[in-house]
Amino acid sequence: MKKTDISDHTFGGDWTEEKLARVREYLTQYRQVFKKQTFLRTWYVDGFAGTGTRADRETLPVQSTTDHLFEDVYDDAETNTFRKGSATIALGLVDPFDRYLFIDQRQRHVDALASAVKESHPALLERCEFKRGNANEVLKQWCAERDWKSERAVVFLDPYGMQVEWTTIEALAATRGVDLWYLFPLGIGVSRLLTRDGAIDELWCRRLDLLFGTADWRNRFYNVRQQEDLFGIREVVERDAPAEKIQTFIEERLKTCFVKVADGLILRNSRANPLYSLCFAASNERGAPIALRIAQYILKKGKPKGR
Ligand SMILES: C[S@@+](CC[C@H](N)C(=O)[O-])C[C@H]1O[C@@H](n2cnc3c(N)ncnc32)[C@H](O)[C@@H]1O
Repeated sequence: MKKTDISDHTFGGDWTEEKLARVREYLTQYRQVFKKQTFLRTWYVDGFAGTGTRADRETLPVQSTTDHLFEDVYDDAETNTFRKGSATIALGLVDPFDRYLFIDQRQRHVDALASAVKESHPALLERCEFKRGNANEVLKQWCAERDWKSERAVVFLDPYGMQVEWTTIEALAATRGVDLWYLFPLGIGVSRLLTRDGAIDELWCRRLDLLFGTADWRNRFYNVRQQEDLFGIREVVERDAPAEKIQTFIEERLKTCFVKVADGLILRNSRANPLYSLCFAASNERGAPIALRIAQYILKKGKPKGR
């Protein structure tokens, strides 16, 4: 695969647009609510920030992602121009956040984003922190350093694949100040690892354990039944993991640590294959009911019937 020096990283499709439009609407409404509460400092945190710009495969040479397992998902280009990424969208709000934290594992992406902010939003540069590193580690440290009596945040986790660890989700929930948007890798990650007969590589099992924070997925996604044949009775393991069931499971998991969790939206590619579930969870006891109402409305908007 050819490597490139360009700063724009490549992914896309209508589902990407759909995801970003909904998160943008939430950010706008969130700032509307908080602009009157000036005693609270609001953060926008992007755990997988990218470069600030997206471009599709037709306009850019191919480059590798951090996780080759999920790479082909990003071949599903359905857009044909450079588009704004989540970081640029969050900075472009009419009423911006008080603080921004952008995290990316790749130095090249962090540098490109910092330059883009300098150029397009110089007035907001002082509010921004750019950190290169693993989102799991950076986020846990960031949560611990905040004063959650006076700070609130919207955290957006938009990984390519299964990079988010459950302990990170728990740390975000424990702040009691974070609203979380999480692009959960339902189709491109979990579904792919769940083999038909339940024989799954140990490393992949470990990865699923880390993602869900439990080994219970084994019981949820596989049925064991007795089958009689010429040789007697034997146990047969069968996969039972449609996208909706995986979505229900991650939402149940989020409910173990967040105050409110919305009914997520399954995002599909043009061939209607489920890729991700866009999940929302609120951790602040007082704010959660209104946060949920807004997020649920946004998630349901324009949703095709039966999905
Ligand atoms: C899907 S892209 C993010 C796109 C971005 N939200 C946007 O709208 O432009 C995922 C990004 O996560 C970065 N990444 C991958 N693994 C990471 C990790 N463990 N921690 C932080 N960033 C990571 C990649 O370098 C890539 O830039």
